[in-house]
Amino acid sequence: MSERFDEIKQEILDGIGGLASSKAVYEFKKQFLDSKAGKIGLLMKEMKNIAPEERASFGKGVNDLKEWAQQRFTDLDEMIKAKELEHRYEQERIDVTEPGAEMKSGNLHPITQMRNEIIDVFSGMGFEVFENKEIENDYYNFTALNTPKDHPARDMQDTFYLSPEFLLATQTSAAQIHTMEAKKPPIKILCPGKVFRSDDDATHSPMFHQMEGLVVDKKITLCDLKGMLDVFVQKIYGEGTTTRLRPSYFPFTEPSVEVDVSCFECGGKGCKLCKGTGWIEILGAGIVNRKVLQNCGIDPDEYSGLAFGIGLERATMLKYGINNIKLLFESDIKVLEQIDNN
Ligand code: PHE
Repeated sequence: MSERFDEIKQEILDGIGGLASSKAVYEFKKQFLDSKAGKIGLLMKEMKNIAPEERASFGKGVNDLKEWAQQRFTDLDEMIKAKELEHRYEQERIDVTEPGAEMKSGNLHPITQMRNEIIDVFSGMGFEVFENKEIENDYYNFTALNTPKDHPARDMQDTFYLSPEFLLATQTSAAQIHTMEAKKPPIKILCPGKVFRSDDDATHSPMFHQMEGLVVDKKITLCDLKGMLDVFVQKIYGEGTTTRLRPSYFPFTEPSVEVDVSCFECGGKGCKLCKGTGWIEILGAGIVNRKVLQNCGIDPDEYSGLAFGIGLERATMLKYGINNIKLLFESDIKVLEQIDNN
């Protein structure tokens, strides 16, 4: 009978090696230790065929075998469970030092970035900022700026009239009048605003943005203007850029100038951006016309002023090499994502 015990032992030892999961262990174990159909349990049923004097040792043999088998299966089960747990740990492992999934965050519109950069430069020089009005009356937009009705300079800007008296602001220069009416010199202000003109092509849009600058104090000259604008172009277009002033005409400044910036693309040698000239036109400016000071109750013999108007779309297009203004208004995320200076 002990041969039968050895056979069962061998069968268990042979089978155990190939078991890889606790479920397989459970199934295999059942074949031997199931209380009804298990091979070891069934041995007990053979007791009746055993000679009475051998029954005690047979019973002990079966019990020993049962204990031995139980121990094997328990050991194996523990080992496999530990392995399974280790595998699960491995699979569910989280590396807390890894960077998280990137969150998309928006950025400021290029025009807003340009506006903020310009404000940053001029507030460093002591300028205060006031928002401009979008609807103006004829007096502030034109007449007080030395551009009375029928003045030919009115044709310089194609105006959207809302009524004979009210219009959409065509320039931020109206802010000069509002400021000088409200404050006495010294004045140093910057006015960003939306302006509107009936004009629409690759470089013009019916709505665009300007930034007006106005300084009124004793002995303000074109030198002050050039000095401030040089600082401005260096901050926006890079060290080494400079400005040049060309004679121009605006009714509210005398003398008036068109300001060019030295080409920051080619350094002045001549390229496509500056059309071979080494210079790019960037803004209009001048010394505040005596008549404008007078219109606001400021004595032009005591005070003088300088004014400039920067087109934000133009300044932005030049800086990033954008050749169609529509790109700035289409909200195409692929374009906007590329311009992030913050
Ligand atoms: N208002 C002028 C324009 O829109 C620009 C300008 C501003 C010129 C201030 C001189 C002084 O063209």
